[in-house]
Amino acid sequence: MRRALIAGNWKMYKTTSEAVALASEIKKGAAGAPSDVLIAPPFTALAPVVSVLEGTSIAVAAQNMHFEKEGAFTGEVSAPMLKDLKVANVILGHSERRQYFAETDEGVARKTKAALDNEIMPISCVGETLAERESGKTMDVIGRQVNTILKALTIAESTRIVIAYEPVWAIGTGKVATPEQAQEVHAFIRQCIAKFHGAQVADALRILYGGSVKPDNVKGLMSQTDIDGALVGGASLKADSFLNLVHYDKQ
Ligand code: PGA
Repeated sequence: MRRALIAGNWKMYKTTSEAVALASEIKKGAAGAPSDVLIAPPFTALAPVVSVLEGTSIAVAAQNMHFEKEGAFTGEVSAPMLKDLKVANVILGHSERRQYFAETDEGVARKTKAALDNEIMPISCVGETLAERESGKTMDVIGRQVNTILKALTIAESTRIVIAYEPVWAIGTGKVATPEQAQEVHAFIRQCIAKFHGAQVADALRILYGGSVKPDNVKGLMSQTDIDGALVGGASLKADSFLNLVHYDKQ
């Protein structure tokens, strides 16, 4: 059985004091959640949020990292630096990184491998644009993105990653994929994993859906066989809406 994961991606929102306040409210409200819970504050708020959540089961993730351990890479942060802050998770290859910061499939694969080498759990993101969907290329694009990541990993390593399917046209647009549309791609991703690394890895690996997940659509999405959780942007920025997602079974 795959344990569900509800993850909040705060993107470039929240000063340190705002982040501490939101993390404290989430800490209070998350007790009894039916799933694992994770939040990804901006780099500047990681250390204070880790200390707010110490001793709880709520995990903290960074939103990006470099694949090298250290070096002359101005503005970048490495896996050992995250580990040093007790940050044990990282979101990689988010479509905003791919779109605005020129991240490539190969770069995302390299970062995924680097995270695993440093015992950090990667949540590696894939997703098609609206133009790709409308021209019938969704599965080609997703297959290429997923396989590039899998190619960089051994079977054992593949059991330690999470994949997030985030259709670019659904992110921040209010246009959520229907549960059936999402399920179709999630099942396809699981097939890609099974082909590459076998059914056992495919059955164990968690695949999250992201893109306009809200309290009123979460239950339909979570009821799909191959949807194992959500990666949430906008609705993770307020305690009440995020906690409604965390307690999706009560919606
Ligand atoms: P959204 O963002 O929930 O605001 O659509 C999702 C994401 O970018 O992870």
